[in-house]
Amino acid sequence: MLPRTHCGDFRVVHIGQEVRLNGWAQTNRDHGGVVFIDVRDRSGLVQVVVHPDTADVHRLAHSLRQQDVIEVVGEVIARSDETVNDKLPTGAIEVKASSINVLNRSETPPFMVEDDCDTGEQHRLEYRYLDLRRPVMQSYMQLRHRVTHAARNYLDSQAFLEIETPILNKSTPEGARDYLVPSRVYPGSFYALPQSPQIFKQLLMVAGMDRYYQIARCFRDEDLRADRQPEFTQVDIEMSFVSQDEVMAVAEGLLRSMFEAGVGINLPEVFPRITYAEAMDRYGLDRPDVRFGLEHIDVTELMRKVEFKVFREPADNGGLVKVIRVPEGSKLSRKQIDDYTRFVSIYGARGLAWIKVNDKDSLPDGLQSPIVKFLPEDVLRELLQACDAENGDVLFFGAGDAKIVNDALGHLRVKLGHDLGLVAEDDHRFVWVVDFPMFAWNADEKRPEALHHPFTAPYDEDLDKLETDPLNMRSQAYDLVWNGTEIGGGSIRIHSPEVQARVFKTLAISDDEAEAKFGFLVQALTYGAPPHGGLAFGLDRVLSLMAGVDSIRDVIAFPKTQKAADPMSEAPSDVSDEQWKELGLRKRRTISES
Ligand code: AMO
Ligand code: AMP
Repeated sequence: MLPRTHCGDFRVVHIGQEVRLNGWAQTNRDHGGVVFIDVRDRSGLVQVVVHPDTADVHRLAHSLRQQDVIEVVGEVIARSDETVNDKLPTGAIEVKASSINVLNRSETPPFMVEDDCDTGEQHRLEYRYLDLRRPVMQSYMQLRHRVTHAARNYLDSQAFLEIETPILNKSTPEGARDYLVPSRVYPGSFYALPQSPQIFKQLLMVAGMDRYYQIARCFRDEDLRADRQPEFTQVDIEMSFVSQDEVMAVAEGLLRSMFEAGVGINLPEVFPRITYAEAMDRYGLDRPDVRFGLEHIDVTELMRKVEFKVFREPADNGGLVKVIRVPEGSKLSRKQIDDYTRFVSIYGARGLAWIKVNDKDSLPDGLQSPIVKFLPEDVLRELLQACDAENGDVLFFGAGDAKIVNDALGHLRVKLGHDLGLVAEDDHRFVWVVDFPMFAWNADEKRPEALHHPFTAPYDEDLDKLETDPLNMRSQAYDLVWNGTEIGGGSIRIHSPEVQARVFKTLAISDDEAEAKFGFLVQALTYGAPPHGGLAFGLDRVLSLMAGVDSIRDVIAFPKTQKAADPMSEAPSDVSDEQWKELGLRKRRTISES
């Protein structure tokens, strides 16, 4: 038998060859007796032609239906000049069939297995095996393969060991809710699925493995969004005897190799860095999209001079007043401004004051705004100067609690950037955000909480603030941000058991709780833990950005819906009474049952 050849591989050089190909019949068309069949496999699509003179083959070709699985034997021939299809890699040739064999028939598919199928995602997920047959989805899976393969190669070249860590765990605190698995052997006890391999990779450093990596599956039961899945994959690394700079350099090399393999783009050797404080000041978010301007302008000090309560109160009470200057924004209609006002309210902003700058030299009449009457002329002048305002601009104001103002104007800036067409889609900007605060204030629980995770090391020079001023400590944590999406993060870890114990104390984790939750890690630190640090990239996010898709679901073979369900297998599902019993669990009866 002839060896199998692949549909997408045929070119002019193959003309005259006898071939055997396998694939799915995409379409069959009859043109005056000659039947054309598009046959597709993973490598692409080729046109098969069947002439009426081969009567049996012709009859069979006629009977083919979409997605039937066939084997074709035939000869590669040149297409006539007028039928050459430049858009198709195999468009210069076709395969003249001498035999066709139906290997399996297909029911009529529930949607067209083509790139531009417009069926809803729920439906696509229900028949994911058909959805994945579409060329675009095949290309995403191939992208995923190339990128993970490149990551493995790169890390291997840097002397990293690939080591698997357990899936059935005690919970690792990454801040999200755990997925729990009941234990049959220990009724009433649960394993937690790992939110990340964090603790285990640190233990591997204590174990002297020096450099570890894993393409690791992580599980987090959190509210889902387009860039979050309940199970997702990290390219996870940890290194011993390293500084922040060394981890970041490896991460840059890793990403460079992933990018080159994925999309053939050469990234810069070194990515720019910005401190957390500067990112918040200029962009309002700790994951700044630096592809465009519209940077925040802090006018808090200036507003201490005004009577207008909306601005004065936050200025006097530790809040913020910030401005975004939108060049040529005075064209925005009242309705557009109302829409932006509604948009910032999602983030808790109580309003969005604005000033249209019609003529900056005639104050105050040259300014159009609901608030100009509350601001004295000298303040207006200083304000325009601080903002570098030009005629035609609009200035948007956020005033209030710092967190709300940053959040609201941070997101508004991103929205404006997109709405005003300031974002070039093929522009890829990476930026490291460094020097994160060690802790954030958890207002509900009235205690500091770890901004990254509780194993992150503070800067040595900040250590003495641990008991006295923890909220002003910086940590050795770093995030990598790509066009406004956090694609990776990591830190240098605490390797001293004493410092770790002090951090737990600051986090209001009692000795008993620390012992119960992470006793094994703290104990390991007492047996000669090396200084160490690492990072994890969110592989799905990296891939979705490479592929230019809105949702990470598109680059995951079998993702979950926004409601963490799988419409195909219908997971999660109930289990048998027997399983409930075996696990020592009892169903709570609902009201209708009782
Ligand atoms: P972190 O929690 O920042 O760090 O996660 C690292 C990266 O994983 C990605 N990510 C997600 N991707 C898809 N769906 C999710 N639900 C999801 N959550 C996170 C993000 C993020 O940047 N153990 C530490 C790493 C370390 O310190 O070494 C950790 O997990 O792209
Ligand atoms: P008011 O005095 O509440 O009618 O508000 C006057 C203007 O200030 C309106 O344009 C509001 O949208 C705006 N505004 C009110 N509160 C805030 C705030 N916290 N930040 C920014 N603008 C505000």
